[in-house]
Amino acid sequence: MIPLAKPDLRQEDIEKAVSVLRSGMLVQGENVSALEESLSQFTGVEYCSLCSSGTAALHLALKGLGIGNGDGVIVPAFTFPASANVVELLGAETILCDVSFDDFIITPESLEECIKASGDNLKAVMVVHEFGCSVKIKEILEICRKHGLLLIEDAACALGAIADGHHVGFYSDAACFSFHPRKAVTCGEGGAVFTHKKDLDNRIRVLRNHGMHYVDGGIDFIEAGFNYRLTDFQAALIHGQLKRFPDELKRRALLAEIYFSFLKECPHLNLPNNTMGHSWQSFMVVLDNNVDRSSIIKQMGQKGVQSNLGAQALNCLQYFSKKYNFKDTDFPEATRLFYSGLVIPLYGSMTENDIKFISSTLKELLKS
Ligand SMILES: Cc1ncc(COP(=O)(O)O)c(C=O)c1O
Repeated sequence: MIPLAKPDLRQEDIEKAVSVLRSGMLVQGENVSALEESLSQFTGVEYCSLCSSGTAALHLALKGLGIGNGDGVIVPAFTFPASANVVELLGAETILCDVSFDDFIITPESLEECIKASGDNLKAVMVVHEFGCSVKIKEILEICRKHGLLLIEDAACALGAIADGHHVGFYSDAACFSFHPRKAVTCGEGGAVFTHKKDLDNRIRVLRNHGMHYVDGGIDFIEAGFNYRLTDFQAALIHGQLKRFPDELKRRALLAEIYFSFLKECPHLNLPNNTMGHSWQSFMVVLDNNVDRSSIIKQMGQKGVQSNLGAQALNCLQYFSKKYNFKDTDFPEATRLFYSGLVIPLYGSMTENDIKFISSTLKELLKS
């Protein structure tokens, strides 16, 4: 079976992790600090705090920025539910904004509309660089500043993505990344918060470690925190992957190009539009409404190719639709992408023949 994703974990990465395991120093330690520094250099964002997952990163960023009870946070309607779950867990209000059908992300225009329709409690905007496709971050930042709103990037899928000339995370108040195995760099579970704000980084470090603060050679607990630390052996798994990552990014861009050339005339299938600065964490196509996606996923599986839906339309999920009385029709683009999006395999060690095989299989199925 050609899987949707395959981690680029090599013998040398595993040996690094094993040597940490042998040392007995398992919790957050020197590998975590070294990786935070390498990631800051890689992204060009001054401060990086590693943590236990992308969801933990979002929770820390929002809490660190002071989002709480009753605050309104705009979230794209099409994303993984973790983006909005953290808003809910902080007692804040999720305000959905529809995305563009062509590239699955929010646009400055849709954001402006959404802000106009929001109440006085609006405090922050969370954008999602879905599947590694970056939003127009400078324009979006300008809109946020004009309205006095914080800007958070859910960049869970977007390590390596470029927005307006910089690595994603450069322009906003805080940006959150995931190292889950579906992402291009992984340690099983893991995450990171990036920011240029020293105070915010300090607070996140306190929050991820039970609220613990080091003072005068001792410790004190200065607020109610979490245990969201990353272990040192997980951090050790990432060093080598990060060094190889520029090559992985080039390879993914090449493989995506091949999908584009083979699928451009495929019937009943729509390709993504925006490839600028894309990191190609996943490749999602959108099937026409009349195509039975479950049947395509099943038949692809029978031919040895894994495929799946892309992300969720939050307005269609039980929790959000019940709480906020959302309907499927409220966010038509997100709803369409939820029901008709199809993610097909993409990872650096795939061959060009794999891509040709997947494309011709999909074409055959969509013809019949
Ligand atoms: C857009 C988005 N945000 C957040 C997350 C959560 O990341 P994690 O699984 O590391 O908690 C994911 C995970 O897939 C995601 O795709």
